Amino acid sequence: MDLQRQISRKLNEEHIAILALLERFEQALGRLRGEPPAQDDPVWRMLLPQLENALRHEVTRHFALEEDHLFPRLHERGEGDLADLLLEDHKVIREVARPLLDLIGDARDGRLDAPGWRTLKAYGLELAERLGSHAQKEQGALVPLVDEILDEDTDSALAMEYASG
Ligand SMILES: [Fe+2]
Ligand SMILES: [Fe+2]
Repeated sequence: MDLQRQISRKLNEEHIAILALLERFEQALGRLRGEPPAQDDPVWRMLLPQLENALRHEVTRHFALEEDHLFPRLHERGEGDLADLLLEDHKVIREVARPLLDLIGDARDGRLDAPGWRTLKAYGLELAERLGSHAQKEQGALVPLVDEILDEDTDSALAMEYASG
């Protein structure tokens, strides 16, 4: 994607990163056969903290950037239906991410039993499906619009604010 603005490039990067991570998560979940992985399983040892960080960032800062600064601009530009649709996705994704993050934390600490892992798998597959299709939808519709809507000064100010956290 040929993008001019820092914010649209940042969204693009973060969407690509989360899509790749969700794909690895789905593959690892698919390999679980109703049994928890070994405590020292190298794939899960790497994946669990990565998921925890990325999901937490996604449902807080990434979503907040879109909700607070980008969706209102879509409304102003007559793209309110798209903004409402994406906001509705965020609500559903947060509902799944919240219990999933607790389960991921327990799994990382070795405190998750076999039924807990089965729940993690169910929530994980649901999150991968919902967040994956959401990120793809935004790649197709939101990112190009944001690139077009933001002027250079607004873009710089938002990028600086986003980077400073
Ligand atoms: Fe979003
Ligand atoms: Fe997004």
